[in-house]
Amino acid sequence: MQGPHCIAIDGPAGSGKSTVGERLAQLWGYLYVDTGAMYRAVAWLALHEDIDISDGRALGELAQRANVKISKPEIADGRQYTVTVHGRDITWEIRSPAVTQAVSPVSSHPEVRSLLIAQQRKMAEQGSVVMVGRDIGAVVLPDAEMKIYLTASLEERARRRHAELLERLGEHNPALPTLEAVIKDIQRRDDIDRDNMLMAKDAIVVETDHRSISQVVEVITHLVENRR
Ligand code: DC
Repeated sequence: MQGPHCIAIDGPAGSGKSTVGERLAQLWGYLYVDTGAMYRAVAWLALHEDIDISDGRALGELAQRANVKISKPEIADGRQYTVTVHGRDITWEIRSPAVTQAVSPVSSHPEVRSLLIAQQRKMAEQGSVVMVGRDIGAVVLPDAEMKIYLTASLEERARRRHAELLERLGEHNPALPTLEAVIKDIQRRDDIDRDNMLMAKDAIVVETDHRSISQVVEVITHLVENRR
């Protein structure tokens, strides 16, 4: 059984779903679950334990014994939540370029997906939830009260990701990629993620190219209020 209120937010990389999802969860006092972080934690572990990321069976086993925990942040360093694996804080490490490279192939294995999807459904049983990802409305929570699909052009998504990295890394950091490199990276991820990127038939598409975060939050809040 799902909690009383389940809001599913899906969309491609850079569509704003994490920021919007977290704001909505905060506004409504719901649990916020970023499913991408769970796939990233498994990818981080695979790299850490030197497991072949094309080996679905080994990755499925890894995901099964991985003790990934996502909890409310206790450190104010810009994090939305804290991710630990076997007790180690990997919140920022799962955002590294190496993990970002590895996570798409890791998440494409059915062995990994079925395991994480079961865990995500369990989380939604704990109470009202805002869950963000790629397949939440279509696969993970098909009975969600409201399914939102956020979109934005490739250029706009890359621009947002680049601005985020600039803020985190600083202008003179040699690790800061160029905007062109970010566009290429998002394009590559879109291509690999395509199979897992599922839009529920009853999802409402919200275009975000010309909307601020607050405006997107407002649109979704109206949609939810009108439905209730
Ligand atoms: O949203 P993100 O960039 O943190 O997601 C990381 C990866 O995980 C991305 O390659 C897509 C994948 N993913 C998925 O396949 N299904 C989800 N529900 C969430 C993320």
